Amino acid sequence: MSAPAISPADYEALARQRLDDQAWAYLAGGAGDELTVQANVGAWQALRLQPRVLRPTAGGHTGLRLLGRDWAHPILLAPVAHQRLAHPDGELATALAASAQQAGMVLSLQSNTAVEVVAQVVHAEPQAGPLWMQLYPQPDRGFWRELVQRAQAAGCEALVLTVDAPVSGARDRERRAQFRLPPGVSAVHLAGRPPAVAPPVGPGRSALFDGLLHAAPTWDDVDWLCAATELPVLLKGVMHPADAREALRHGVAGLIVSNHGGRTLDTAAPTALVLPQIVQAVEDRVPVLVDGGIRRGTDVFKALALGARAVLIGRPQVWALAAAGAHGVAHLLRLLRDELEIAMALCGCATLQDITAECLFDPSRP
Ligand SMILES: Cc1cc2nc3c(=O)[nH]c(=O)nc-3n(C[C@H](O)[C@H](O)[C@H](O)COP(=O)(O)O)c2cc1C
Repeated sequence: MSAPAISPADYEALARQRLDDQAWAYLAGGAGDELTVQANVGAWQALRLQPRVLRPTAGGHTGLRLLGRDWAHPILLAPVAHQRLAHPDGELATALAASAQQAGMVLSLQSNTAVEVVAQVVHAEPQAGPLWMQLYPQPDRGFWRELVQRAQAAGCEALVLTVDAPVSGARDRERRAQFRLPPGVSAVHLAGRPPAVAPPVGPGRSALFDGLLHAAPTWDDVDWLCAATELPVLLKGVMHPADAREALRHGVAGLIVSNHGGRTLDTAAPTALVLPQIVQAVEDRVPVLVDGGIRRGTDVFKALALGARAVLIGRPQVWALAAAGAHGVAHLLRLLRDELEIAMALCGCATLQDITAECLFDPSRP
């Protein structure tokens, strides 16, 4: 029997023992040399906290108000596709865990479980956090509208539009492992849809620029989605302050600073370094969330200190899922929240509002 998980990283080691090379390549891997995958983690680690002493923190809590509702804590499960690669229960298990731990859950468009089924699990728990659905822009607007309506009817409280992956990254690790989805694992929301096929291109032309990218999304798609739903729309994958300002002009309700966990553009800057630029650009007009490399409660704390309102957890949720199903993911969420509370106490912060840039060590501070 393996030792119990004490830290989020323990789940990574346990998951590696359980998953075959193909599933591991898909779930853990990233683009190119995976420099951004590593840099995301390293950038949070490199930030240093500056503890405070003797401040009253009794009665403190991790609660917040975000997009018109109360949250028990600021830790959400990021949209992660194909969770049945990690565990036969797939998204059902993560939904159970999220609802038990009052965490927000963002269901991937490419999930192996339908939004209606996940919603039933989440909404059975009265204290559950919100369920959001992630979408990719769809060239077929009729189909896209159906997806939006399904998410709304299932009781999703927001839509997350991922815009950082108009093309797949060069995922070397997946290609080396010759990754293919095994039988029985499929993106159920896309069942029966034709695969994205690039139009044929002439000799000497680019299959990417003259082919696939003809159907690539633009800001018109953001306008379309914002008009097609009453739900708040958050844009995921914003990494440049100019794009953040543009997003505000298009009426989004929130931004998620994300480089897709280093799975699209290798050597993209780590999100911890980009977050302050986006927060500054947005000037508090909409909430800014962040993901990428968050592995500890101290990382959650640092993200809030840099101005994020909440964070999303990607790979650690599938590691915990692979290692111990719903129990594993619930335990992971509890660990992260406990670590956040400890960091708050040791930095003299009773509430999330108390977590500011002052909590980060700044050698130039007098
Ligand atoms: C296996 C895997 C599948 C993912 N699938 C999606 C997806 O379907 N949609 C999406 O917007 N992001 C997807 N992401 C990106 C995550 O939502 C998130 O941005 C990223 O994992 C955060 O980085 P982290 O893994 O270091 O926590 C996926 C990430 C992983 C690892």
